[in-house]
Amino acid sequence: TIIPVILCGGSGTRLWPRSRKARPKPFLPLTGERTLFQATLDRCRGEGFASPIIVAGKDHMALVADQSSPDATLIVEPSAKSTAPAIGLAAASLPADAIMLVCPSDHHIADAEAFREAARAAAGLAADGWLVAFGINAKRPETGYGYIRRGEAIAGGYRIDRFVEKPDRATAETFLAKGGYAWNGGIFAFLAGAYLDELAAHRPAMVEAVRAAINGAERDGSTIHPAAGPFAGIAAESVDYAVMENSNRAAVVPADMGWSDIGNWAALRDALAGDADGNRTRGKADLVDCRNVLVDTDGPRVSVVGLQDVIVVVDGDEVLVTSAEGTQLVGKLPGPTNQ
Ligand code: GDD
Ligand code: MG
Repeated sequence: TIIPVILCGGSGTRLWPRSRKARPKPFLPLTGERTLFQATLDRCRGEGFASPIIVAGKDHMALVADQSSPDATLIVEPSAKSTAPAIGLAAASLPADAIMLVCPSDHHIADAEAFREAARAAAGLAADGWLVAFGINAKRPETGYGYIRRGEAIAGGYRIDRFVEKPDRATAETFLAKGGYAWNGGIFAFLAGAYLDELAAHRPAMVEAVRAAINGAERDGSTIHPAAGPFAGIAAESVDYAVMENSNRAAVVPADMGWSDIGNWAALRDALAGDADGNRTRGKADLVDCRNVLVDTDGPRVSVVGLQDVIVVVDGDEVLVTSAEGTQLVGKLPGPTNQ
């Protein structure tokens, strides 16, 4: 069976004012009734999936407990060290032959069945010792993603020839022009033991610290509190830099599943179904002669006339108005920092 390992950390500022420090992106119902975190849990249920493990910091535990299911195991990170150590905690708490499916908690996946199919293919490769990434068709020279170059075909996927995390713009453009590169979807499958072995090969101090934190953990029902001391000394690093860029046991499964990491308001607009004019509204909104407009209001009625590619968000007493392009720069406003 596949053990879903859900990561909750960081707090996106680019979806302000809906996303706030106390209410970060995973815990918001951005694309439907369920929050992104709940939708992630929902996707990882059914045939072949075991109960999930959720790894999150103390600050988010109340939200996690509130929004997850009673069968979940919670691992409370003593401090924020990015994803390589967070995944390490889950791996060290499992038997070496457990198949982990590591999922970010803040993505939207339109086609859950396609996701589960890719997950089963990835689990098959993982059982053979591969560290498996999910490859997403690269559409733009996005610099916030990892890039994966496909190598030889192996059962159910491909060997990774090259993994490059967050290239600069020029490099990303070359990758797109050359072809043969996919975006890394941020979802991974591997055996707990294979992950720890790769970590031991490339970041030996990190694996020692993670094992010590789990060996010294306190358990309270289904909640695990790893020891803070050993964890504190770890240098923060993501799984992409620490493991995927360095491993020669890395593989990729192509995943065409309507993936979006909803990195900004324009991406959220695009993830929602639009009407005939491409408009999307949530809450009370009236639009006349508009195209590709998103209105998301939790209170006041918003009326918009004669605009295109504009996004209006109302959250309590905060109002954001931005062009679709400007949405990248929302984090530069004082609002997200002062929230
Ligand atoms: N528990 C825990 N602790 N979770 C964390 C931590 C941490 O310290 N840091 C990040 N996370 C969670 C985030 O909440 C998110 O769900 C996931 O781990 C990935 O972290 P991000 O910070 O969102 O990574 P990224 O978007 O910069 O890059 C990753 O995702 C891209 C796709 O969205 C990489 O894997 C890229 O290669 C990939 O393309
Ligand atoms: Mg992300």
